[in-house]
Amino acid sequence: MKFNTKTIHGGQHNVDPAYGSVMPPIYQTSTYSQTTPGGHKGFEYSRSGNPTRTALENSLASIENGKFGLAFGSGLAAIDAVMKLLKPGDEVVSTNDLYGGSYRLFTKIYEDFGIKFHFVGMENAEKIEDHINANTKLIWVETPTNPMMNVIDIQKVSEIAKKHRVMLAVDNTFATPYLQQPLDMGADIVMHSATKYLGGHSDVVMGALIVKDEALAERLYFIQNASGAVCGPQDSFLVLRGIKTLHLRMQRHCENGKAVAEFLSSHPKIDKVYWPGLPTHPNHEIAKKQMKDFGGMVSFTTKGNRMEDAVKVVENLKIFTLAESLGGVESLAGHPASMTHASIPKEEREKTGVVDSLIRLSVGIEDVEDLVNDLKQALER
Ligand SMILES: Cc1ncc(COP(=O)(O)O)c(C=O)c1O
Repeated sequence: MKFNTKTIHGGQHNVDPAYGSVMPPIYQTSTYSQTTPGGHKGFEYSRSGNPTRTALENSLASIENGKFGLAFGSGLAAIDAVMKLLKPGDEVVSTNDLYGGSYRLFTKIYEDFGIKFHFVGMENAEKIEDHINANTKLIWVETPTNPMMNVIDIQKVSEIAKKHRVMLAVDNTFATPYLQQPLDMGADIVMHSATKYLGGHSDVVMGALIVKDEALAERLYFIQNASGAVCGPQDSFLVLRGIKTLHLRMQRHCENGKAVAEFLSSHPKIDKVYWPGLPTHPNHEIAKKQMKDFGGMVSFTTKGNRMEDAVKVVENLKIFTLAESLGGVESLAGHPASMTHASIPKEEREKTGVVDSLIRLSVGIEDVEDLVNDLKQALER
């Protein structure tokens, strides 16, 4: 199957075996009857497994070209499960520009458990090797990064990971498998905040992991069940439904993202625009090589770098909603320094470009003229 077919049929029964329903039923149950102890039909208890969640997990594995999918109660719960593969004394090399909540989990929870993190700018992949030693067990990559839209060469990082026998995990939330499939580029684990583009409608919080290796999958399934951060059947159904239109939505997100990035680039009040599709983007060539298109996330700064200017712009927007999160059909605007990335100390976040005037847009799938006009009026006021 090709990608657009996989979003609809990948890993699915075309009809449910029980009554022929075309969509998988929402098995809203915590437990399953047994004819004799152990005599069940593959499901015993819904933390361990639920048929609606299994349908979603099979879909996730299919669209990421993996073999095994695991769904969690949030993106952070999925990352948490990956961290539980590690032991005290282990070290992780991570992108330095990453989602603030991932940074918080690493530094405020797992550092206390004796895991050491090195935050490194990975635009030049060779830099990673300076931070690898005998204790390094994992390289954590987010690409494009949140919110600076840096693009990291997954293939190159995976060569480094393989050379040093270190695991590579890629947070594929921003790109989605429509734009890039990290397992095909040598990653061991793909992670998603399915809350974003996979769900696509801003109505679910969920996370996902996808892997190819069976032993790694077994260990992660064990952690998923043992720690218990699973998602419910209703949410599984919603994300499964979201995935069925992922390719259509992403195509429009990319088209609209391009138009918005080009508009902002030519606006006299704008200083910098961060969108990997712009030829001026420092990692444009890598983006062209590894991504099918450039996505709908666009960040920019206003001239003068004043927090109050950025705050005025986001307050004046009418179609873009000022809100955390991204990846839904509707356009959202955020102010990372005071919202999504407030958990990163100012000094640290400014090193990576998250300055006070930075605005992050999740460009939705509305008519793009309306989106551009909305930005125009907000910038004029
Ligand atoms: C790139 C990225 N990774 C992980 C997460 C965490 O996911 P969740 O909010 O579903 O826990 C987010 C949330 O914004 C994100 O943007």
